[in-house]
Amino acid sequence: MTVAVYPGSFDPVTLGHMDIIERTARMMDHVIIGILQNNSKTPLFSVGERVKMLEEITSHIKNVEVRSFDGLLVDFVHKCRANVIVRGLRAITDFEYELQMAQTNRVMAPDIDTIFLTTNLRYSYLSSTTVKEIAYFHGKLEAFLHPNVAEKVRQKVEELHQTSDM
Ligand code: PNS
Repeated sequence: MTVAVYPGSFDPVTLGHMDIIERTARMMDHVIIGILQNNSKTPLFSVGERVKMLEEITSHIKNVEVRSFDGLLVDFVHKCRANVIVRGLRAITDFEYELQMAQTNRVMAPDIDTIFLTTNLRYSYLSSTTVKEIAYFHGKLEAFLHPNVAEKVRQKVEELHQTSDM
């Protein structure tokens, strides 16, 4: 049985991530989406909120499960009894960082392989950071996010605007 972990921050999950999840689920027996908890970046959504959002929008894919993790990715992959890490590659600029991560993980855990899926061209420019910036300036989000996620991002940004008005 091939079990893959698709790790990331998913703050928020974009249509680019969804494309990778759907394609991975077609290739693997089981896919675990691993949401990193101890990220140094200050997130827009709590880990709990991100888990809930991902569960909601992947509920139609039967072999996908969502979990959060802390610490080293390779330890989480072992805990999941998985053998593959999946990462999306959008452009050549992603490659250096991804290669460094994959090689480091392979030294720490030679039994785990990292595979890369090239992102659908439609989403090759897309990042969670860009989406947050668009949301902050009240831009339209539907081309980049699942409608449920877009709504939650709008609500969250509205809360932030209100807090900063005080
Ligand atoms: O979506 P992101 O932020 O690009 O995902 C990065 C992630 C979560 C895959 C990476 O930061 C990670 O694996 N962090 C866990 C800590 C770890 O294992 N570090 C060593 C890998 S080089």
